[in-house]
Amino acid sequence: MKPVSAKILLVTAAMLGGGYALADTLSYELPDETAEFKPGPGVELAQANCVACHSADYINTQPPKKGHDFWEAEVKKMKNTYGAPIDDADIKGIADYLSATY
Ligand code: HEC
Repeated sequence: MKPVSAKILLVTAAMLGGGYALADTLSYELPDETAEFKPGPGVELAQANCVACHSADYINTQPPKKGHDFWEAEVKKMKNTYGAPIDDADIKGIADYLSATY
């Protein structure tokens, strides 16, 4: 009996070892830390105002075609609720860019 269980142990160890060796050779590509904004008129306003606290993913992952009112409210929320230092003069330009591009 003893030799048989020793053999099973060896096989199990070999399989585990193989698993680890496989993991060593895999490589993973992580996404860029700061996702890009889509190109469009006014993109520089978004780049200047919208990545201080979170990546462009927060914008990229919103459902498409939400419209100007949604985006203007979103920009105002960033400013008034979360304290983003956005110039009042830039709010419309950012909302124009976001509603035209997303
Ligand atoms: C002062 C920091 C700050 C800045 C600057 C900022 N945001 Fe945000 N944003 C936040 C926080 C905080 C949240 C909420 C995070 C959460 O709920 O996990 C958020 C969430 C979001 C979301 C997800 C939906 C939501 O309402 O929670 C969107 C879209 C968004 N921001 C867009 C923008 C845009 C567009 C700009 C540039 C005009 C911007 N943010 C700039 C802090 C900021």
